[in-house]
Order: sequence, then structure tokens, then C-alpha cells
Amino acid sequence: MRVVTLGTGYVGLNTAVALAYLGHSVRGVDVDIEKVSKLKQKQAPIREAGLDALLSLSLDLTFTTDLASVIEDVDVIFIAVGTPSLPNGHADLSYVHAAAKNIAECLSPRRDVTIVVKSTVPIGVNTMLERQIREHISRRGECVDFLHFASNPEFLREGCALSDMFYPDRIVIGTQDDKAHAMLSELYAPILSQSFPPPDGISIPNPRPQSQCLRTDQTSAEMIKYASNAFLATKISYINELSGLCEKLGANISDVSLGMGMDHRIAPYFLRSGLGWGGSCFPKDTLALLGIASEYDYSLPIVEAAIAVNERQKHRIVQSVLSALKVVRGARVALLGITFKPNTDDVRHSPAVDLARHLTRLGARVFVHDPVGLANARRVYAEEGFDFCDTAYEAAEGAEAIMIATDWAEYRSLDWRRILESLAQPHLFDARNLLDRNAMLALGFKYYGF
Ligand code: UDX
Repeated sequence: MRVVTLGTGYVGLNTAVALAYLGHSVRGVDVDIEKVSKLKQKQAPIREAGLDALLSLSLDLTFTTDLASVIEDVDVIFIAVGTPSLPNGHADLSYVHAAAKNIAECLSPRRDVTIVVKSTVPIGVNTMLERQIREHISRRGECVDFLHFASNPEFLREGCALSDMFYPDRIVIGTQDDKAHAMLSELYAPILSQSFPPPDGISIPNPRPQSQCLRTDQTSAEMIKYASNAFLATKISYINELSGLCEKLGANISDVSLGMGMDHRIAPYFLRSGLGWGGSCFPKDTLALLGIASEYDYSLPIVEAAIAVNERQKHRIVQSVLSALKVVRGARVALLGITFKPNTDDVRHSPAVDLARHLTRLGARVFVHDPVGLANARRVYAEEGFDFCDTAYEAAEGAEAIMIATDWAEYRSLDWRRILESLAQPHLFDARNLLDRNAMLALGFKYYGF
């Protein structure tokens, strides 16, 4: 099928590449000239497992800034542009409206075409965009009977987005339009039947999911996305809430999490306590859900509590540093990890940055290391007063405390004896519970887990 994806960010690019790998003819469109020129040279503007390998294949996949040049005879158009948070927590819809306007201006539908909103948008936005496009095209006197619309939210995790794309637990299609449903079912058929050759460099979940398809209405599809992210954030905040109580009781939160996760109804995923959640989705989507509820004068106390606990967790960790060091002003703190989670170079909305800012505000000098995100951190956080170090050992040199803020697996294999010897004081704050408490205590660290 002929596909156009509007937006070549985490969602749009991974969608475009995956659909091209499945044999579709895909055109990626973005307003960002630099990003498009990189993609034309088969260079990935983002770090995703398997993306470089797929881009290097000879797929029917090209990129352009000019939608009009690729929209002729298209079958499916994905709107996959960003919906960042506004200062008031509501979603900024300017990009999706601009995308809809661009489509309406360029599309002269002479054959069935399905326009799909993949961006995470507040409830009701799908209907708004459909009306915007229909009215714009019919005002030109063109036939709108060939237009079909659907919501198709994405559930991609950064760092394993392509694995989530090829091996999804579910594909949600929100539409009352049978033609839209039929076209998307055809588009995703290879995924739903798992009948494609596994792409190199993309992990296959074990056990491999069934990849079910759920058809529902557009509003429910939009809600599934928000509800899923808010639930995952709540699950993490729940274990983090318990971790504070376990610390007071002397219980081991990692064992509590393990014991809970052995119940298949709870499952072990998203049950790792620590510094809490960040990134470009959970913070935005939980606030947007609250924003939607408030428009209907309805409260979501559980989601509110999940956000509050997530903030409290960071303060709890800073308090732990204060009580250990007593005087933080002028102290040197080594911070290992600045990305919002491992296996990505994304430093946006990172809990590690919140921690570094808080310690800097208290007068500490924070020496940041990250295996992958350092270049982005140096650029995005140049004015924050952090020091950036190319190795964890450099960050640890002479520090009064060392902290693991992002659970990069490679921090497990550091020479922790060497780090202990280079520290001014042996305080190790494992804000992601990455290391073995007993092993660190045996080495001589004062170990703090969360
Ligand atoms: C999330 C959703 O998982 C994905 O389905 C949706 O499409 C987009 O948002 P992502 O933001 O990439 O994906 O990150 P995710 O892997 O979900 O982690 C989110 C945050 O939770 C990270 O800061 C991570 O460190 C934290 N986390 C995750 C925990 O603190 N504990 C856990 O057990 C798991």
C-alpha cells in the first residue's frame, strides 16, 4: 500500500521504516529540513535499536519536506507529529492542526484514502481533525466521500520502539468507518499474522506476543492510550510509594517488588522502584489526562497521586543525600546517568536532570556522566551549571557522593573498588536499585537504595 507519514520523530520514523520493511511504499514527510536531509542520506536522527540497519536496506522509503509531491494516490496518511505539553499541562495541538491543514491543502481525493491520527491527542481531537479536513476540502468543491478517518494510537517505548512496532501486544483501530478499518487491517496484516521475516537487530519479545487487533470508536482509542500510560505511571508510583515505607520498616523493596511480580495478575513489569518516571510521554500524558478530566469537572485522584508520588520520590532521594552529607553546599556529587531511562539518548524530562538541578540549587557541584546521552545533555543543559565527564571514573574523582540516576546496565560492570578508592567519602546512592546492596556494602560503600 502507499503510505505517507507526517512527522519523522520517534513515532513517525519508526512507523515509516517498519511499514516499508513490511513491503509498503512509504514516504516520510517532515518540516525539519535538517532531519529530512539526514534521512535522505539514510542517517537516523534518533537512536533506536535496529533503526540504522533498517534504514540501510533498499526499501521503498523516501523522505521529503514537500507533502504535495508524495500525496498523489496515497492509501494511508499517518499524522505522527508531536503533541508536547503546554505550560498549563494541556497538549499543544498546533502541530497536529498544521498537519491536518497541510493534508487538506494538498489532498484531492480521487480514490479511498484513510487519514490516521497516530499522535497522542486528547479525547475528541480525532473528530476535530476529521471535521477540519473535510470542511477544508469540501470548501474547494472537491468530493469528500473518498475520505476515511481512524485513530491508531502508538504504544512504542523509546529504545525498543521498533520491537514494539513489529511485535506489539495490540493494535488499536478507532473508527466507525468500515473502509478505514479494512485499509488499516490490510496495512497491518503482516504484523497481525507475524508473517514477516524478523528484522536484524530488533529483539523479539519472549514470549512473543499474539499481536491482537482491537477495533473500537475513536474516543475509546484515544482513551486507551492515555489510560495505558497513566496506569503504567501509577504502577511505578505505587512501588515507589511502598519503597519509602519499606525503608522505614527495614524491608527490602526489591524483594517486595519481586514477590509481587510473581503474581501473574500483577506481573513484574514497571514495578522497579527508584527515581521514578520521566520522558516525553508519562509526564505529558498524565497531565493531559488530568486536563481532559478537569474540562468535565471530574477529578482523577489516583492519577494525581501518581504524579505527586513521582515528585516526592525525587525529594526523598535528595533528603537522603542531605542527611548523609550534612553539608551539601560545595560538595562534589557524581551523577551516573542523565537520560530519562537507559538505551536511549533522550534527556528530555529526565528525572536525573531534576535531581541534578535540585542538588545544584543546594550548592553542590554535580559531575554528570552518561554512556550515550552526554552530547544531548551538554547541548540541552549547557546553562544548568553541571559539569560533564566522559567517564564515570572522572565523575567520581574526589566526590563526596556518587549516585546512579539512570539504570544503564554498563554501570554494573564498573570497577567499583576503583571508584570507592577515588571517592572523598564512600556514599553510594543507587537511585535505580541497579547494584547489589550486599556486594556494595561488603566493598565498603555506605549504600543507599530506594
Ligand atoms: C512509555 C510507554 O511505555 C509507551 O508504551 C508509550 O508509547 C510511550 O511512553 P517511554 O516513555 O519510552 O514509553 O518509556 P518507558 O520505558 O515506559 O519508561 C518511562 C519511565 O518510567 C522512565 O523514566 C523509566 O526510567 C521509568 N520506569 C520504568 C521506572 O521508573 N520503573 C520501571 O519499572 C519502569
